[in-house]
Amino acid sequence: MSDKYGATEMVIPSTTSKPSFGTRVKNHFRRFWWAHLIAFIVIVLVIVLPGLCRYPNIAQDDVNDSTLEVKSISITDPTPDSFHLNQTQVLGTDSMFHPHFYEFNATARLSGSKKPFTVVQIPPMKANDGTVINVDQDVDLEGDAFGDFSTAIMLNKEVDMNLFGRPRLKQGALPKIGVVYNKTVTIKGLNKLEGFNVTNYHITVDPDPFGNSMNGTVSIPNPSVLTITMVSRSPPPFPCLTQSSGPQSNANKGNLTMDLSVDGTHVGQAFLNDFVMRPGENKFDMTAKVNNTVVMDMIGDKYTKGIVPFDITGNSSIYNGKELPYFSKALKANTLKVELNILEGLKGV
Ligand SMILES: *[C@@H]1O[C@H](CO)[C@@H](O)[C@H](O)[C@H]1NC(C)=O
Ligand SMILES: *[C@@H]1O[C@H](CO)[C@@H](O)[C@H](O)[C@H]1NC(C)=O
Ligand SMILES: *[C@@H]1O[C@H](CO)[C@@H](O)[C@H](O)[C@H]1NC(C)=O
Ligand SMILES: *[C@@H]1O[C@H](CO)[C@@H](O)[C@H](O)[C@H]1NC(C)=O
Ligand SMILES: *[C@@H]1O[C@H](CO)[C@@H](O)[C@H](O)[C@H]1NC(C)=O
Ligand SMILES: *[C@@H]1O[C@H](CO)[C@@H](O)[C@H](O)[C@H]1NC(C)=O
Ligand SMILES: *[C@@H]1O[C@H](CO)[C@@H](O)[C@H](O)[C@H]1NC(C)=O
Ligand SMILES: *[C@@H]1O[C@H](CO)[C@@H](O)[C@H](O)[C@H]1NC(C)=O
Ligand SMILES: *[C@@H]1O[C@H](CO)[C@@H](O)[C@H](O)[C@H]1NC(C)=O
Repeated sequence: MSDKYGATEMVIPSTTSKPSFGTRVKNHFRRFWWAHLIAFIVIVLVIVLPGLCRYPNIAQDDVNDSTLEVKSISITDPTPDSFHLNQTQVLGTDSMFHPHFYEFNATARLSGSKKPFTVVQIPPMKANDGTVINVDQDVDLEGDAFGDFSTAIMLNKEVDMNLFGRPRLKQGALPKIGVVYNKTVTIKGLNKLEGFNVTNYHITVDPDPFGNSMNGTVSIPNPSVLTITMVSRSPPPFPCLTQSSGPQSNANKGNLTMDLSVDGTHVGQAFLNDFVMRPGENKFDMTAKVNNTVVMDMIGDKYTKGIVPFDITGNSSIYNGKELPYFSKALKANTLKVELNILEGLKGV
């Protein structure tokens, strides 16, 4: 074809009438179409390809710039090395791209800690600003790292949690690529249970059949987004098999035990059963075994007005008859102080 048109053009100069501009352009393209094709390909390679090559970097930058806000964390069915996690978070991004993320595994750790406490499966999602990411799964705990995390939550106003994974993503017709997700989010902690109080307490001289001589209401403010449920959603199929040996231990129930002391002298223990703590103000029924003899001696000697300063330290957290080492560790790390008016508590008995 090029031969034919080339020949035609060779003839043109010898003719008297000059071809129109349009015809010349047409003829030029007919003759040199291959040169234009090559030029087009070169332009594509020079301009588009670097853009394509930069696509993974742009995607990585967008991932780095994105934010994550944890809205709720719920822990249910705890065992010594696992629990059910229901965690909701919201993605923040101002990118013009909204790639599809494939499901990926992310490790969760206390920021700065070498050891992650668990691996969570992040479900597939479209990365829009405001995308809600819900993780609702049983998680296995690795080592005692969750004890350190729980302790940090107990003691601090704010805790940094790091999530790390290598998700794959796809933007439109562009190829699937891998990025690094390394995000540290700040969540509110329990701040040493500041605002803890014991109210409405009654003390009896004669303990009940279980040895309890005191009861009352414990209030615990929870400024975090954390819910801890130590009550089964359904009873275990064979309660007799999961029941621990203690005479009053209750299978299928959560039981926090606290040690009570006054000026370093152990005076008894307090118990919170069926422990469920939600964000906001929480109230629990408390029972306690207090050695009235010792406390009355203290009132006679030192606290003559009857107001006794108790130190409360965590001793254990037991669920379904098994100790939860991570909650026990967090409880033990914190000492609460409360002044109780023992003479007032004894009134009306
Ligand atoms: C994004 O984060 C990754 C992983 O932390 C890091 O290697 C990379 O340098 C970061 N990129 C930018 C542009 O900050
Ligand atoms: C998980 O938590 C979210 C937010 O609190 C709640 O809407 C949802 O019902 C929970 N899912 C389950 C299975 O409890
Ligand atoms: C996440 O980890 C689990 C358990 O190790 C594994 O079975 C699963 O395939 C992993 N998922 C992805 C998307 O890598
Ligand atoms: C994640 O980022 C933090 C801070 O930028 C860095 O110290 C840490 O090493 C990173 N983690 C990994 C696994 O790259
Ligand atoms: C605890 O409650 C009692 C009775 O309501 C109140 O008098 C006391 O001030 C409270 N203590 C704290 C530390 O809030
Ligand atoms: C607390 O103890 C008092 C006195 O023994 C008793 O009258 C009251 O019913 C008890 N309250 C609870 C909630 O058990
Ligand atoms: C709670 O646990 C403690 C320690 O194991 C035990 O002494 C107490 O009796 C238990 N209370 C109940 C009501 O199960
Ligand atoms: C109370 O403490 C005294 C002195 O330590 C001790 O002798 C007594 O046995 C204790 N009573 C009970 C019920 O534990
Ligand atoms: C914790 O409770 C157990 C059982 O009641 C008791 O033997 C132990 O001494 C307590 N621990 C402390 C540190 O008081």
